[in-house]
Formats: sequence, structure tokens, C-alpha cells
Amino acid sequence: MDNTVQIKDKRFAVSIPEADILREVERVAEEINRDLAGKNPLFLSVLNGSFMFTSDLMKRITIPCEVSFVKLASYQGIATTGKVKEVIGINEDLTGRTVVIVEDIVDTGLTMQRLLESLGTRRPKEIHIATLLLKPDKLQVDLNIEYVAMRIPNDFIVGYGLDYDGLGRNFKDIYTVINEE
Ligand code: IMP
Repeated sequence: MDNTVQIKDKRFAVSIPEADILREVERVAEEINRDLAGKNPLFLSVLNGSFMFTSDLMKRITIPCEVSFVKLASYQGIATTGKVKEVIGINEDLTGRTVVIVEDIVDTGLTMQRLLESLGTRRPKEIHIATLLLKPDKLQVDLNIEYVAMRIPNDFIVGYGLDYDGLGRNFKDIYTVINEE
């Protein structure tokens, strides 16, 4: 059976089948159910990439909780730092809340660092991080990532919410690039 797909100039092969993903999502859900019971956590899902992970994770969270969705919008700042990422879509009052950021992948960690900075100004009681994927060798900043479904090598991946140039988010499995032509 051919388990490869072509997206534009890149070819990808299945590297993590759906069943393996769901087993690890289940494990993370159990850890969160155990650790955050009684805290009415607010899960903040970072769109677009984490939509599938969020859905499968939330179905397995059995403690009382809330879920909401945020986005990072890039805009050209007037500061010399160039691109600034702004967190948009938070309608909830985070004061005193236990927040769980739900991300698709932590690569360099710069996106997560920016999120933590931004959410931290809203006076939550505590912020936890849950990520589907972590590329540990790429991490550039010191982050306390408590909930990691899977650690992967540095290769570029698509599927299960993650995209290559907007495509591939709908795949149920995760695919890794097999050539760079
Ligand atoms: P970071 O700021 O370097 O940690 O980048 C995180 C963001 O980069 C993720 O939210 C993804 O949108 C994107 N990203 C990083 N690695 C991959 C990948 O292998 N495939 C698809 N998107 C990726």
C-alpha cells in the first residue's frame, strides 16, 4: 500500500499513524484529569494547527473544564524588532484561572514564549502547556512543557492539523517529508 502523499514540491510518508497519536493523546488526557481535577481549567487552543489535537484531547477530558480558541496574528510592528505576534480572540477573564495552552507543535519555542508573555499579563493563577508534538533538538528557549504527547526529530511534518503551505491539515495520520526536491 502506498502511504505517501505529494504536496506541491514535497513528498511525505506516514510516520505516526492515527492509532499511535490517539494512544498518546489519551495518556496526556489522563495526566491532565489527574493533575488539574477541581481547578476548572480553561483550555486555550491555538488555531489553526491544534484543532484536531484539541478535539481528540477534549473528548478525553472528564473533569469540569472550559475550552476556548485563540490565534496569533502577525503584524508589522513599528519597533525595529520587525514582526510582532499578537494573541487575538481571548474573550474570557483569565484572572485567577488555571489555563492550559493547547498547541500543535513546539519547535524553536518562540511562539510559546510569546503566548506565555501575553497570557501572563492577564493575571491567571497558573499556566500549563500541552503540546501534541515537541522537537526537542530545536528548542531555543527554556520552557516548562508538562504535557507532551510525542517527541519527534527535526524533520518537517504535516497532517493531524499541521500544514505545509495551508495543505495537509485534514490528514488523520502524521506524515514526514521524505525528500526536499
Ligand atoms: P516555534 O515558534 O518555532 O516553536 O514554531 C511553532 C510553529 O511553527 C507551530 O505552531 C507550527 O505552526 C510551525 N511548525 C513548526 N514545525 C512544523 C512542522 O514540522 N510542520 C508544520 N508546521 C510546523
